[in-house]
Amino acid sequence: MKRVGLIGWRGMVGSVLMQRMQEENDFANIEPVFFSTSQAGQAAPDVGKDVPPLQDAKDLDVLKTMDVIITCQGGDYTSEVFGPLRKSGWQGYWIDAASSLRMEQESVIVLDPVNRKVIDQALDAGRKDFIGGNCTVSLMLMGMGALLEQDLVEWVSPMTYQAASGAGAQNMRELIQQMGALRDSVADLMNDPASAILEIDRQVSEAMRHADFPIENFGAALGGSLIPWIDRKMDNGQSREEWKAQAETNKILGRSDKPIPIDGICVRIGAMRSHSQAMTIKLRKDVPVADIEGILAQSNEWVKVIPNEKEATVRELTPAKVTGTLSVPIGRIRKLNMGPEYISAFTVGDQLLWGAAEPLRRMLGILQE
Ligand code: HSE
Repeated sequence: MKRVGLIGWRGMVGSVLMQRMQEENDFANIEPVFFSTSQAGQAAPDVGKDVPPLQDAKDLDVLKTMDVIITCQGGDYTSEVFGPLRKSGWQGYWIDAASSLRMEQESVIVLDPVNRKVIDQALDAGRKDFIGGNCTVSLMLMGMGALLEQDLVEWVSPMTYQAASGAGAQNMRELIQQMGALRDSVADLMNDPASAILEIDRQVSEAMRHADFPIENFGAALGGSLIPWIDRKMDNGQSREEWKAQAETNKILGRSDKPIPIDGICVRIGAMRSHSQAMTIKLRKDVPVADIEGILAQSNEWVKVIPNEKEATVRELTPAKVTGTLSVPIGRIRKLNMGPEYISAFTVGDQLLWGAAEPLRRMLGILQE
């Protein structure tokens, strides 16, 4: 039984990981050791078996006794601990939700329903660093990765609609505060069925632009609005979130040497924890829509092709429907006016499940096969 160190299990991604591990009874197959950066010595969480008290997450001597370390603690922790731990001679497996090590030569980005072959080759080659991908990238690949794997795609332009959770737990709270503040700003008018909608709109807009509007985390109104920028600026004008699409997708697929161009604009919207993306896909040839739907439907057990019909789309292809599930619906698949090689597609997925915790949990499972 592998001795598995868990770090950052109390944060948002860590909590989702813990929940999934409990649902799947993963703790029965490992010897878990819980770490903390601040509460070493206190009781570890109840996972249905005896576990030692919390260990110090910075204590290399204890970390060195782990066969596997899974961390959701964040990039700063990884940057501080990973290097010294490896330098000390530790040969265990490092599974990480943070982005710090993702693009390192030694790292494999894990998304096994899409890149199990790449993972297996890396394991055979003795590689030890397995890193979760960017949520938007992982969710795009869960939805349409089969078209890339079959080399049917010349390029993709994903335009994203990213949920508040991608920015952090405080941002989710702020989104709700913002929505509440908007409602409160027109409570009287809303209670009067005869009130004028343009007056409601004026007051809502005023509240949104008011100095008291809660924007501490987002820096701008998200409730009732959107923010067309995520992460910092790169030298070429892309945001870093936009840069990741091509860099990580090609690394996940093991084709960084002949990358498929992938680029679009990443936008934060007022969804809670499911990211959506609208894709324009240039195919290498004219493939009938029915064939595309067939390829996608068979690619993994979580993808669900939604027919390009209004009723099915509004029922199935939304954050409201998908959140809290592992389902990755993809729909709005149709030929575009630009020509028979151009198709559209729209996909939605839970940013904390397939976008973060689930690939890590499954990587731990692969190590036990
Ligand atoms: N960077 C993503 C976002 C989440 O801001 O939505 C982490 O992958």
